Amino acid sequence: MANMTDLNKDMARVLVSKEQIAARVAELGKQISADYDGKDVVVVCILKGAVHFFSDLTRALTCQMEMDFMSISSYGNSRKTSGVVRIVKDIDADITGRHVLIVEDIMDSGLTLNYLTMLLQAREPASIRIACLLDKPERRECAISPDYVGFIIPNEFVVGYGLDFDGFYRNVPYVGVMKPEKYQ
Ligand code: IMP
Ligand code: MG
Repeated sequence: MANMTDLNKDMARVLVSKEQIAARVAELGKQISADYDGKDVVVVCILKGAVHFFSDLTRALTCQMEMDFMSISSYGNSRKTSGVVRIVKDIDADITGRHVLIVEDIMDSGLTLNYLTMLLQAREPASIRIACLLDKPERRECAISPDYVGFIIPNEFVVGYGLDFDGFYRNVPYVGVMKPEKYQ
């Protein structure tokens, strides 16, 4: 087994551990359950990055909710988004008059979620809120902030727990900072 791949070796350090993620997701679950208690909410997973966060967060919700999924592709490279996104797979639900909670992996420039919120707003939902596992406020290029945040992190490129570099590392169970030589 000398040549086995170990993704852990590509990490410079763990930024948010499995245990920290689990504890924070449980807290967010309680808060979100209380906020949406008795309301009609559609929780939308933005594929693929939010997959683990969405899966853990929704299981921490005790309120009645419907799951939906949206897949978007942004024009830009893997490290910098233009903000203009193409809907690859739209949600199935009609959200008119309903509460929408968007679940995303990370808010960086904010351009993606700004655009996405605008797209969904046009369908006249009762409300739209955003839950992000990670937030890099230093990088913001527009006036938007998540309503629920797992962790505020510094301006570093991270992978794991859904976040990728060129499609890989999403299965790493923690959020890690990659060794610069691995993505430069
Ligand atoms: P924004 O439009 O700049 O806020 O970009 C958001 C998207 O960029 C996220 O959904 C991620 O796909 C990607 N992204 C931003 N920062 C990182 C990072 O540190 N690691 C992995 N993906 C990131
Ligand atoms: Mg993404």
